Amino acid sequence: MCGIVAYIGKKEAYPILIKGLQRLEYRGYDSAGVALLSNGELNLYKKQGKVANLVDFASDKNTTGQIGIAHTRWATHGEPNDKNAHPHSSSNGNLAIIHNGIIENYDVLKEELISRGYVFKSDTDTEVLVHLIDDIQKKEGVWFGEALRIALLSVTGAYAIVVISKDKPDTIVAARKSSPLVIGIGKENDFYLASDATPIVEYTDQVVYMNDEEIAVIDLKDGMKLWNIQDEEKTPYVQHLELQLEALEKGGYEHFMLKEIHEQPRSINDCFRGRLNATEGWVELGGIKDYEQQLINANRVVMVACGTSWHACLVGEYLFEDLARINVEVEYASEFRYRNPIINEGDIVIAVSQSGETADTMAALELAKSKGAIILGICNVVGSSISRITHAGSYTHAGPEIGVASTKAFTAQVTVLTLMALSIAHKKGTMNETKFRTMLAELELIPDKVKKVLENNAHIERIAAEYKDATNALYLGRGSSFPVALEGALKLKEISYIHAEGYPAAEMKHGPIALIDEAMPVFVVATKGTSYEKVVSNIQEVKARKGKIIAIVTEGDEQVKLMADHIIEIPDTDEHLVPLLATVPFQLLSYHMAVMRGCNVDQPRNLAKSVTVE
Ligand code: F6R
Repeated sequence: MCGIVAYIGKKEAYPILIKGLQRLEYRGYDSAGVALLSNGELNLYKKQGKVANLVDFASDKNTTGQIGIAHTRWATHGEPNDKNAHPHSSSNGNLAIIHNGIIENYDVLKEELISRGYVFKSDTDTEVLVHLIDDIQKKEGVWFGEALRIALLSVTGAYAIVVISKDKPDTIVAARKSSPLVIGIGKENDFYLASDATPIVEYTDQVVYMNDEEIAVIDLKDGMKLWNIQDEEKTPYVQHLELQLEALEKGGYEHFMLKEIHEQPRSINDCFRGRLNATEGWVELGGIKDYEQQLINANRVVMVACGTSWHACLVGEYLFEDLARINVEVEYASEFRYRNPIINEGDIVIAVSQSGETADTMAALELAKSKGAIILGICNVVGSSISRITHAGSYTHAGPEIGVASTKAFTAQVTVLTLMALSIAHKKGTMNETKFRTMLAELELIPDKVKKVLENNAHIERIAAEYKDATNALYLGRGSSFPVALEGALKLKEISYIHAEGYPAAEMKHGPIALIDEAMPVFVVATKGTSYEKVVSNIQEVKARKGKIIAIVTEGDEQVKLMADHIIEIPDTDEHLVPLLATVPFQLLSYHMAVMRGCNVDQPRNLAKSVTVE
């Protein structure tokens, strides 16, 4: 949510910043801007809309300079227009700032600054910071880095900030609290700063992930120094970046989303690596080994997440309860944190998050930690905030997910939860050896079965063409296919803007059935298993009201085929593993419908990939 990038060194900053913004555009695309220091001048350009608009706008301007900051915005305070775009500058034009996060007490600070004569040019919360720094510089006679530190002492909220100043054209200052900021240490005494490592990876693999309330001062002469806001010097912890550049490119696919859908056989396999061996009959999640016994003994586990990750938790609930006989509560992180939840010392709270930066999930975890819970994380982004505040956790290893709609991260989350449930069930003795071994063997086959599902792409595209003009859609499923229905509906609404709802199939008759007529597509998971016959009855109820049925069925199914308008076959598998296969046709359906409707599938309107505000 908002992407920031900055450069200081001997190279021309502008091309580095623009490329960086394009990499970070998935974090927000309401406006973009850049500020460059060149020959004692601070040149600042910003434009509503995508980075491409900024590039057009700046094409005939002076974009030289070896120090610069840039920003791509997801609007929180103030409309997405030119004046609210970052960077923001001080009244005297000396300072420029970019910011990701929210200054919660901005209104109090703003009032005070206005009363002292400061004139605001934007409606953003960020602008208070630049005037505050300017004000402290004037009042206390300190340089802008020290003024930033003092300013942050009176700021409440979340921030990743980078500031430059005409007064010190060889220096860049950055600070972070609750919003991510990574510093890449270049090979030519240069430094790259960004919200994540994607703009950095092609220049260096040496990075420092800033911690909360740290300030980095980067100077062309003295290099990088880290302080905390209490003015104590800190030692930077330099890490090796594992990211591959190819993972950030479309690799011949028309969209990142399509690429990421097709990557799932690989990403699920990567998730297994070193954790699952069906031949030898073991499953082990090294990252949570130290807390395994607590999981085995747990009476209750709480899972917290948002959006698609919350759907993965719902699948996890079925797995943990059915296989490991552990009572699971799945909570929207945003609700959990404000509900005075009952958490006791030693309770286990598992956060699931692709980005590892979601503000609500972070806050829910912090609350649980403060009440003495053991907090575990399942994250995709290595080094992310959630992965750093948890006691232990497991990465999903899905690789960078650039499409704003989550696809491969979801199946990777479900894979980790499946591995966890199996490991606990086996050790706890709630699953016998034969069943355990059969499940491991089935699980190991999932990547190949996902490949088979993907071979149906052309058939799915033809179905999408029939329903692309729908205005509403229902998604139905039972058991662990209910979260698959929720996820199918979310995918459709977020990228194609078709209104869609997911329901447990049996709930349809308690209300949603009133919506069904000949124009209503109903997408149903009707695979073989415990609830098969029940779902067949639900399909009949829809058909009796002339609704259109698009059913996901087990290969070779004959019964649903006779009733449904369309079927999409998926390979047979253990019932517990169906979500890993049944999700994929829904992803493809949403993708094709959105493309046919002319929607921007990788960057849907109003959305951002990493939601770092409440
Ligand atoms: C939907 C989607 C969102 C995220 C949600 C949580 O496709 O991507 O619903 O799942 O914002 O994000 P993470 O998983 O990063 O915590």
